[in-house]
Amino acid sequence: MSPVMKIGNVALLYPTILAPLAGITNLAFRRMVKALGCGLVCTEMISAKGLVYQSDQTRQMLASVAEEKPLSVQLFGADPDAMAEAAAMVEAAGADIIDINCGCAVKKVMKNGAGAALMKNPETAQQIIARMRRAVRIPLTIKMRSGWDASGEQAVRLAKIAEHNGCDAVAIHPRTARQRFSGAADWSLIAKIKQELSIPVIGNGDIRSPEDALGMVAETGCDAVMIGRAALGNPWIFAQIHALMETGTCPPVTPDMRFDMMQRFLDLTIDQFGEEIACKMMRGRLGWLARGLRDATGFRTAAAGIYAKTDAESLIRMYREKFCPS
Ligand SMILES: Cc1cc2nc3c(=O)[nH]c(=O)nc-3n(C[C@H](O)[C@H](O)[C@H](O)COP(=O)(O)O)c2cc1C
Repeated sequence: MSPVMKIGNVALLYPTILAPLAGITNLAFRRMVKALGCGLVCTEMISAKGLVYQSDQTRQMLASVAEEKPLSVQLFGADPDAMAEAAAMVEAAGADIIDINCGCAVKKVMKNGAGAALMKNPETAQQIIARMRRAVRIPLTIKMRSGWDASGEQAVRLAKIAEHNGCDAVAIHPRTARQRFSGAADWSLIAKIKQELSIPVIGNGDIRSPEDALGMVAETGCDAVMIGRAALGNPWIFAQIHALMETGTCPPVTPDMRFDMMQRFLDLTIDQFGEEIACKMMRGRLGWLARGLRDATGFRTAAAGIYAKTDAESLIRMYREKFCPS
C-alpha cells in the first residue's frame, strides 16, 4: 500500500476509503470523515433510475462541497441504458469517480436484478460497465461481494470483466450475498483477486482497528483499504491508519475529541438537513461517537430526547463536564 494511490487519473493522498453506507454516508458524515484524513469518501448507493426519472430526493443525494473532494458516487441499477444515462448526470454534477454497486444483498435492490444479483448475471454486468465506460470520462470502479458461493469464482470473473471493460479499480467485500454480514470476511479472496488484476484492488470487510487495516494489506497486498462500520464509532480510524503506517504508533482518541466531534457532526448535519430533521437523526447517531466513553448507554438513552439543537448541545456539555472536568 503506497502512501499515494491513483484510481485512474484521480490521486488519493491516502490509500484509505470510506465505504458506501446507505442512510449513513450523506454529505454531513462525509465532511466529518474527510476532515479527519480519509483518502476518499463515497456516497451511499444512489438509484440510477431515480436520477434518470428526475426524482428530487435522489438528485439531492448528489449534493457535495469542494472540501470533501475527491468524491466517489455509487450508482445501483440493472438497466445498462439507465446506468449510462445516470453516470453522465453524475459526471456533469462534478463527481470524480463513479462506483457501480455489484454487492448490495438487500432484497429490494436484488429483486430488480441490481446489486449482488449482477454477480449471477455477468453478461448484464458487462453491458452495464461497457455502456457506462462509453458514457463518461471519469474513473469507474465496481464494488462487489464474493458472489453466491464461498468459492469466490464469480468475484474473480466479474473483477476480470471490470478490468477488461475499462474499470479503474475493484473493491471487494469478501462475503457471499447469502451471508449478508454474518460470519467473517474471507480476506484470502482479496489476495486472489489482487494476483489476477493489474488495476488497483481495494480490500474491504471487518477492519475494526488501524492494526486490522495494516494486517489486511500485509495479508492480501491490496492497494487500499475500505472501511464502513468501524468509522461510525471511530471516524479517526483513517488518520490512525496513516499514523500507524508512517510512525508505527497510533494516536489515541480522547473523550474531549469525542465531544468536540459530536458538536461538529451536529453542526454539519443541521447544515445539510436543517434543525428539525437533523435533530431526529441525531437521536440515533450522536451515540455512535460515545463509543468507549463511561456511561455511553446513558448518553445514548438521553440522546433519544433530542428535539432541538440546544437539547443536543446541553447533552454534550453535561457529559463533557461529568467525564472531562477541567
Ligand atoms: C448500514 C449499511 C449500509 C450499507 N450500504 C451500502 C451501500 O449503499 N452500498 C454498498 O456497496 N455497500 C453498502 N454496505 C456494505 C459496506 O459498504 C461494506 O461493504 C460492509 O459494511 C463491510 O465493510 P465493514 O466491515 O468495514 O463495515 C452497507 C453496509 C451497512 C452496514
